[in-house]
Amino acid sequence: MNKKFLIVGNWKMNLTTTQASLLVHRLSENIKIHKNIEVVLAPTMLTLQPISLQIDHRKFKLASQDAYFIDEGAYTGQVSFTMLKNLVKYGIIGHSERRHIFGESLETVTKKVAAAYRNNIIPILCVGETNTERLAGETNQVIHDQVETALANITSEDITSLVIAYEPVWAIGTGSVATPDQASSVAKVIRNDISELYGSEAAGRVRILYGGSVKPDLVSGFLRDPQIDGLLVGGASLNYRQFADIVTGANRVAHNLKLKEDE
Ligand code: 13P
Repeated sequence: MNKKFLIVGNWKMNLTTTQASLLVHRLSENIKIHKNIEVVLAPTMLTLQPISLQIDHRKFKLASQDAYFIDEGAYTGQVSFTMLKNLVKYGIIGHSERRHIFGESLETVTKKVAAAYRNNIIPILCVGETNTERLAGETNQVIHDQVETALANITSEDITSLVIAYEPVWAIGTGSVATPDQASSVAKVIRNDISELYGSEAAGRVRILYGGSVKPDLVSGFLRDPQIDGLLVGGASLNYRQFADIVTGANRVAHNLKLKEDE
């Protein structure tokens, strides 16, 4: 098995430049380089550049939390994927906070995914249903619509690097967590969609993360599921002990899976 888990810390709108630098310092002390794990930090736009200079790039990769879909021009206040090229490896796109607080539409998300690829940035496309949608039995349809529209312009070559994060809106910052079975069944819906559009090989290569109130004790439950390739962590990524424990936990699961395979 060559599966490499992807653990992403989304810092959201938290930490001053000084606080961010201190957190990176602590994370560097407490997280080792593991060959089975890729650790990604998504700080604010303001701190991406200084953090890029501070980190060991073998240990941490960077992601933006968002960016604008046009490359340059008169768009006051925006930062484009073009400007982030060579600074970040990944770009989080369509996070539920962008969709729900800032009214980001399916069409905007589609344009952002295309802009990321155009600038050699791997999208971490976030999808997820609200509690109302879940209770109405609409989860699979919502996920299907979000995935299919977002990929409208993506080639079969690009698709294999894609990361999709399943983040149920009702689990974000609430302490309510989806069960590994729930996450796994949505991941299957996503892989089915990708398979219909791009074939089964592509569907197997797309990495699917779970996000929503992830804490260290939940890591193994999600990562032992063969459908789940990693985690997108919010609140717990601001605490260096918790985030380091999440990475250590992921490494333990990767190690155990490898042992099982070698038996
Ligand atoms: P929490 O881990 O704080 O629930 O946030 C999840 C999230 O939105 C990560 O992008």
